[in-house]
Amino acid sequence: MSLPIIAPSVLSADFSSMASGAALIASSGAEWVHLDVMDGCFVPTISFGPKMAADLRPHSSQIFDAHLMIQNPLNFVEEFAKAGADYITFHVEAAVHSHRVLQAIHALGKKAGVSIVPSTPVSFIEPLLPFVELVLVMTVNPGYGGQPIIPECFDKVRALAALREAGRGGYLISVDGGINASTAKTAREAGADVLVAGSSFFGAADTAVLVRQLKGLS
Ligand code: DX5
Ligand code: ZN
Repeated sequence: MSLPIIAPSVLSADFSSMASGAALIASSGAEWVHLDVMDGCFVPTISFGPKMAADLRPHSSQIFDAHLMIQNPLNFVEEFAKAGADYITFHVEAAVHSHRVLQAIHALGKKAGVSIVPSTPVSFIEPLLPFVELVLVMTVNPGYGGQPIIPECFDKVRALAALREAGRGGYLISVDGGINASTAKTAREAGADVLVAGSSFFGAADTAVLVRQLKGLS
């Protein structure tokens, strides 16, 4: 089993010094920067938009993993591509023509991801699997950092790993919500390739130690 990619979410960083948050991620050994974009419509609160990603881009050389928790994601993929996102992931629950959104992301030269909330089954995205580079399984209801994990969601990680094994796509499986040193073990065992961590990362006394724990190295 290869080591998972760690993607700290700057949702839990101090918004007044986002560049420091990105620097902390870089120094911790984590590979990606996870950008949680919330519109106050698809999810109950508002976080930030593409300008945050664009302003942060010169302060980080890491992969930018944009997670769009917004209605009508097609309207914003171009802005996030221009802002320097490497992966653009949207919610299938927020788009009618999900395949068209994937086409738009690919046409912009970016990697495309689809995400499902805890109440959405894997079967809902099965037709999309051959077309995506990432599937993000929400392990909490999206909207806030710091919520307890819903462990039943790991069944969907196992199902996605089995579908990939059966040749249904070449996607990374990402888990997002309630990931800490203890829940990361179950996530890894279920088959997750990317672990998103917000509050556990920015609340850690030593982020390098936490990243090693998330990877299962200590
Ligand atoms: C939740 C976001 C998550 C969130 C995770 O809506 O998509 O990325 O930041 O935060 P924690 O790790 O605190 O659950
Ligand atoms: Zn997220």
